[in-house]
Amino acid sequence: MAMLLLFQIFLLHLTAAAATDLCPSYYRDTCPNAENIVRDVMKRAFVREPRSVASLMRFQFHDCLVNGCDASMLLDDTSTMLGEKLSLSNIDSLRSYEVVDEIKESLEKACPGVVSCADIIIMASRDAIALTGGPDWEVKLGRLDSLTASQEDSNNIMPSPRANASFLIELFQKFNLSIKDLVALSGSHSIGNARCFSIMFRLYSQSGTEKLDPAIDPKFKQELNKLCPLGVDQNVTGNLDATPYVFDNQYFKALIAGRGFLNSDQTLFTFPETQQFVILYSKDQDMFFSDFVEGMLKLGDLQSGFPGEIRRNCRVVNSPTSHLSFESQMLMMDDVKVM
Ligand code: HEM
Ligand SMILES: *[C@@H]1O[C@H](CO)[C@@H](O)[C@H](O)[C@H]1NC(C)=O
Ligand SMILES: *[C@@H]1O[C@H](CO)[C@@H](O)[C@H](O)[C@H]1NC(C)=O
Ligand SMILES: *[C@@H]1O[C@H](CO)[C@@H](O)[C@H](O)[C@H]1NC(C)=O
Repeated sequence: MAMLLLFQIFLLHLTAAAATDLCPSYYRDTCPNAENIVRDVMKRAFVREPRSVASLMRFQFHDCLVNGCDASMLLDDTSTMLGEKLSLSNIDSLRSYEVVDEIKESLEKACPGVVSCADIIIMASRDAIALTGGPDWEVKLGRLDSLTASQEDSNNIMPSPRANASFLIELFQKFNLSIKDLVALSGSHSIGNARCFSIMFRLYSQSGTEKLDPAIDPKFKQELNKLCPLGVDQNVTGNLDATPYVFDNQYFKALIAGRGFLNSDQTLFTFPETQQFVILYSKDQDMFFSDFVEGMLKLGDLQSGFPGEIRRNCRVVNSPTSHLSFESQMLMMDDVKVM
């Protein structure tokens, strides 16, 4: 029994270690068409509902920051696990999960049990940017899907739209993401929408020391007040910039004009450390694109360090017994290190 347990721990260690070797050609032999399959579904999704690709590219941020890029955010809640879908930043906000299901189904048809949901998020995010007119790049693959998820970690880690630049700089630093990465990656708000819920505080409650965006254009403030009057259905959405289906540097021009939608957007122009990059990217779209790609690669390199699997369905773990708590996984990993 002890031997068997040791062997299982050894196997778990191996699976965890395997996740560290990411490379572009990971599926070359096992699923050579994987990237085309993902892109085809993304193209169809873009035609059906242009916003859906923006909604999906946001997944890379929400997945990779919470215990690494492991598709933990895609797990539905179970009777024993509160997942990330209902965390503060994700509830009523992350959307288009069904596009991931569609991608997964197509991949399972072509190469059953081969391509991880974590890699799907990485490929789909890249495709979303390419399909909306942004850069296209080579992604590294070979991630595993987590056996669990943590609503608590998502609540603790994911930043609020009220955040100021100094808070965001510190947060990103914890993930080895630089100030430049912060500003370039925030440029993903060049596409997509946000809810009134995310700016009610900004419009009606902010005062004193929390007045972080004195630079807001008064005319823009009026437009926002009109979109989101007090008592409005907080699910009403507005565009994050003037060209929400085109990935370009319009977002940075808007920040300079005081027309950033979220507090966390406008603050990037308010603070000197981030302002220089906002100005740079507003003038040089190529520089924005190349720094953005660099940031996405760094974000995609964040690993979980926990054991994983290739899920058959991105919403559930393959077997209920593979559903271990983080604590028990930690214990097992510690055992491995002691060995
Ligand atoms: C820097 C800190 C960030 C904060 C505070 C933040 C916050 C938000 C918020 C509040 C929304 C709107 C949610 C809603 O109202 O339902 C949003 C939307 C979005 N975010 Fe971020 N975000 C950040 C960084 C990022 C990064 C790094 C990415 C991608 C790499 C990203 C991609 C997106 C996209 C594409 C949307 C639009 C989604 C849609 O239309 O469905 N964000 N973000
Ligand atoms: C917003 O939409 C979600 C579903 O996406 C719903 O559960 C919630 O009740 C809605 N909120 C309001 C205020 O209508
Ligand atoms: C930024 O936000 C943090 C956290 O909310 C707060 O403690 C800090 O005082 C703010 N910094 C500035 C310069 O406003
Ligand atoms: C950040 O980089 C340091 C030094 O290279 C490394 O020890 C640490 O694990 C990294 N942190 C993350 C979250 O990747």
